[in-house]
Amino acid sequence: MPAPPPPPSIALSILLLRAAVSSALGLDSSTPKHQAPIVTHLRVPGTGKIGVNLGKKTTAMPAGCGIVAVKEGDEFRDSFLDAVQGEMEELIKANHSVKSFKVTRQVYEAKFGKIGYDESNSGVVDTKKKKKKKPKKDKDGKEIIEPEVDPMTEVLDVVYVQNVCFGVAAGPVCASTGEIGEVAIGRGERDSMVVLGRDCSVTVQFTVGGLEAAAAAALGEEEMNAIDLQSDKGAYPTEGSLGKHGSALNDKFSAPATTVEDVAVGIEKAIIEENAEMVVNPWDVAGEIDYTKLIEKFGSQEIDAALLARIESAIKKIGKVDTLHPWIRRSIFFSHRDMNKILDCVESGKPFYLYTGRGPSSAAMHLGHLVPFMMTRWLQEAFDVPLVVQMTDDEKYLWKGVYNDGDDNLDHYRGLTIENAKDIIACGFIKEKTFLFSDCEYVGLMYPNIVRIWKSVTYSTAKAMFGFEGGSNIGQSAFPAIQAAPSFPSSFPVVLDAGRDSKMACLIPCAIDQDPYFRMTRDVAHKLTPKDHPLGGKPALFHSKFFPPLQGAAGKMSSSDDSSAIFLTDDSDEIARKIKSYAYSGGQETSKLQKEKGANLEMDVSYQWLRFFLDDDAELEKIGKDYGSGSGEFWATGMVKNRLIGILQEMVKKHQERRAKVTNEVVREWMEERKLSF
Ligand code: TRP
Repeated sequence: MPAPPPPPSIALSILLLRAAVSSALGLDSSTPKHQAPIVTHLRVPGTGKIGVNLGKKTTAMPAGCGIVAVKEGDEFRDSFLDAVQGEMEELIKANHSVKSFKVTRQVYEAKFGKIGYDESNSGVVDTKKKKKKKPKKDKDGKEIIEPEVDPMTEVLDVVYVQNVCFGVAAGPVCASTGEIGEVAIGRGERDSMVVLGRDCSVTVQFTVGGLEAAAAAALGEEEMNAIDLQSDKGAYPTEGSLGKHGSALNDKFSAPATTVEDVAVGIEKAIIEENAEMVVNPWDVAGEIDYTKLIEKFGSQEIDAALLARIESAIKKIGKVDTLHPWIRRSIFFSHRDMNKILDCVESGKPFYLYTGRGPSSAAMHLGHLVPFMMTRWLQEAFDVPLVVQMTDDEKYLWKGVYNDGDDNLDHYRGLTIENAKDIIACGFIKEKTFLFSDCEYVGLMYPNIVRIWKSVTYSTAKAMFGFEGGSNIGQSAFPAIQAAPSFPSSFPVVLDAGRDSKMACLIPCAIDQDPYFRMTRDVAHKLTPKDHPLGGKPALFHSKFFPPLQGAAGKMSSSDDSSAIFLTDDSDEIARKIKSYAYSGGQETSKLQKEKGANLEMDVSYQWLRFFLDDDAELEKIGKDYGSGSGEFWATGMVKNRLIGILQEMVKKHQERRAKVTNEVVREWMEERKLSF
C-alpha cells in the first residue's frame, strides 16, 4: 500500500526546497533542478523533510566542500540554512504559477527515463512502513507475499515551475508557489544536516504554513533514522557525479540545449499525445475517435460507394425494402469485414444468419444501445434472414458483478437480461426468425464450440488482444470464446438446424468496439467449420460508429451518467429538458455571430443526433445548410433542438408503447429454443 500523499503545500515545498538547496549550494543555475529529493513526509501535520544526496564531490560543489556541518551553531550550516530559507521565501513571494500534469509512469519513462524521480522514491516514503520491512507471516508462520502493483500504471504527479524546478511530486501540488504561505526550515540539531564530505548530502526539515516549530521538534529518533536509511539514493546530474541513474540523466541533460523548459514542453507534448490517443476496445472508448484511423488500426474495410451500390441492388432484388437504410447511406455504419462475401452468398442463394448481442449492465437502456439493434432489424427485414441475439449476463457479472458474504449478484444480471430483452423485442424483429438467449441459460449447446475455441487461442494471444493481466479473473480470460461461439451455426443445432458441417454464413452488426472479439473469432474460425464454407468459416462484420453523448460529439454514451443520455424510459418533458440543457451546441455565442458564421455541425450534438434519427434526407440537408450558415428556418440552435426534441419524443413514446406489450411471457416465447423459420 502506498502511503497517502502529503498535503499539496508540502508536496510542492519538497520540490521547491530541492531547488532552493541546489541554489544555496551555488550549483550552476542553468543545470536543471529536476532530480527528485529523497522525501519523508513526517507524521507531524504540516511538516516534511527532504534529503538530497549530491553524489561524489565534484567541480560543481561549492566552496564549502569538505566541511561536515552537523552541529547547531556551526557557521557554515547556519549560513547555508539561511540561504535556503531565503530562497524559499523568494520563491513563495514570487508566486510562480505551477504547472502540474498527471501522467502514467509508463508514458513518463518512455519520454524521460527515470529522470526526475528515484524509482524507489517517487512518492512519499512512509517511515513507519520502511521500518517494518520484515516479511509478513501468516498464522502458520508462512511468508505472505503481497501482490505487486504494476508500477507502469502508477499515475505520477509531474510538476514544472518555470526556471525553478521540474520533477515528480509526492502527490498533487498547489497551483502556485504563493499558496504555500510560509515555510520554516528546522534549525534544531537533528532537524537539518549538511554533510559535504566525500559524499555530499543535505537534509532539511521544514514546516509549512507557520505551524509550530515545536511540532517538528517533537519528532523522535525513528524519523531521523529513516532519513539515514535513504541517503544513498540518487545523484545530482553533473559531470563526474553521476550515480545509479546517472547515464540516463546524462543523456537527457548534458547536452547544453536541454533546458528545464525543453523537458516541460516534452512532458506536455507527451501528455497531449496520451490524451489524444483514442482508446477503443470492448470496455473502454476514450479520446477523440478518428474512424478512418480506426479502420487502419483494426484492419477492417471501409464501406465504400461500390459496396453501397451492391447492397442496394441485393435488397432491391429481394424486394422486402426499397431503399438503403439511412445509417448505411450516411456512413454511420462505416466499416466491415467480408460484407462482399455475404453479398456473394445472397446472389448465389447460399444462406446466412445475423448475430448480435447485448451486455445487460443496466435496466435502463438508452438511445445509443438501440443503434445496432435498429440496424439489425432492418437487415433482417431486408435480407429476410434468421437472427440470434446473445445476452451476455455472464460477461457483465464477470466485469461488474459483486460478491459478498456467500451471496453475489449474478442473478441480478440474469434479471436484467429479461428487462433488456423487452427493449430489444420492441425494436420490431420478426419473431419466427429471431432467437434471444441468455448465456447463463443457453451455454450448454454452445459448449462444444466454446471448448474448441479455448483450445485454439493461447493465453498470450488473449492477453495481447484483450489486455488481460494477472489480476483479471479467469472467467474474463475465458469469456471471449463465449462471445465468439454464436458466430458458428453449429452452436445452434436446433435454432438454425445446423450440424458441424453447416456452411451457413454469419453476419454480425455491432459497434466497432466489439471488433476485437471477432478478430479473434475469425482467426480460429477455420478450425471449427467445414473447408468449403463460403467465408472460410469466418463471420462477416458490419461496424457502426458510436452514438455521441449529449455533452459532446466524441466518445461513446454512458449509462452511468444520467445527463449524458436519453433513456428509453424518459418521458417527453425529460427528453425536452435534457436536450435543451445538455445537448452540446456547435452554434455561435451570439445571434449576431451565428448569423455571420453559422454553426459547427461536426461539434453540434443535436445535428449529429438528427443524422441518426431524421430519416428524410432532404430535410436533414436543409437543416444542415441553414444551421451551418446561420440563415433560414433552422438558423440557430433553438430551432434545431426543437426539431430533434419532436422526433425523439415521438420515437421514444412509440418504443414505450411497443415495450409495454412485451410481457415476461412474451419474452419467454422469444427466448425459447425452437427451430427458426427461414
Ligand atoms: N459484449 C457485448 C456488450 O457488452 C454484447 C455482445 C455479445 C455483442 N455478443 C455480441 C454485441 C455480438 C455485438 C455483437 O454489449
